[in-house]
Amino acid sequence: MEFDSELAGKLAQARALLARCQRVAAFSGAGLSAESGLSTFRDPDPDSLWSRFDPTELASVAGFEANPEGVIDWYNWRRRAHAGVQPNAAHRALASQPRMIQITQNVDNLLEQAGVASQQVYHLHGSILHDRCHNPGCTHRVAVELEAPSTSRACPRCGERMRPAVVWFGENLPQATWNRAQHLCMQLDCLLVVGTSATVYPAAGLIALARQHDSRVIVIDPSTGAAGEQADVYLAGQAGEVLPALLDGFDLASNP
Ligand code: OAD
Repeated sequence: MEFDSELAGKLAQARALLARCQRVAAFSGAGLSAESGLSTFRDPDPDSLWSRFDPTELASVAGFEANPEGVIDWYNWRRRAHAGVQPNAAHRALASQPRMIQITQNVDNLLEQAGVASQQVYHLHGSILHDRCHNPGCTHRVAVELEAPSTSRACPRCGERMRPAVVWFGENLPQATWNRAQHLCMQLDCLLVVGTSATVYPAAGLIALARQHDSRVIVIDPSTGAAGEQADVYLAGQAGEVLPALLDGFDLASNP
């Protein structure tokens, strides 16, 4: 892959930075999966989800309680779009680094499909591959069939409605996973930020948290955005092109 001279220079800078690091984690968003064919949320392009749909109706508890069938239908449409989707070169490049924890806002499982061990992936926003009971006191959770997801139905344990196992606006992140992600970001040499607008909190706050604890930050994203503004090295490009070049030949375990 040929890069223009500015990006090539930044890549060399980022590789030199990484060569001095042992504790590196990745923090990703929808841009990581864009080259697999999944829509992002906020890109200016007309395909992005929140330019076509209203998140207050489709990604909030109030929206779900007002129109559960409509919300479930929308997630089931997204699930069909996820069926058969394959990891791209960016997922594979991250998977080539078994010591690197993957903190992700993505609800797909493309990192795992690319070969990242499931305990190495911290899913901050849940999973579109599962349903769970909407009753916070009930832990019932089931895998869904992406090609033929179930329609609205009651929880077989408590009778409350089942819902997608994703985190909606106004809901808490899964507490244990969030604690682990914060703890990790306080101990890093470098945080690799990939394909996120870094606008949704508390997840986006991990970048500032890492910086406050002396981590360097490398950002890969075609748009500078809120993440790029916090970068020590900003790589303006597609994750599927830049990440393989960035991580090629790296083995964090062998860094001094
Ligand atoms: P956004 O859609 O907000 O941001 C996607 C980012 O990916 C943008 O900065 C794009 O420039 C970048 N991007 C697009 N294509 C890319 C590519 N090929 N390589 C690298 N970067 C690329 O998505 P998130 O930041 O993930 O919440 O959004 C955060 C949360 O908002 C999501 O987890 C979701 C949404 O509402 C929930 O589902 C709870």
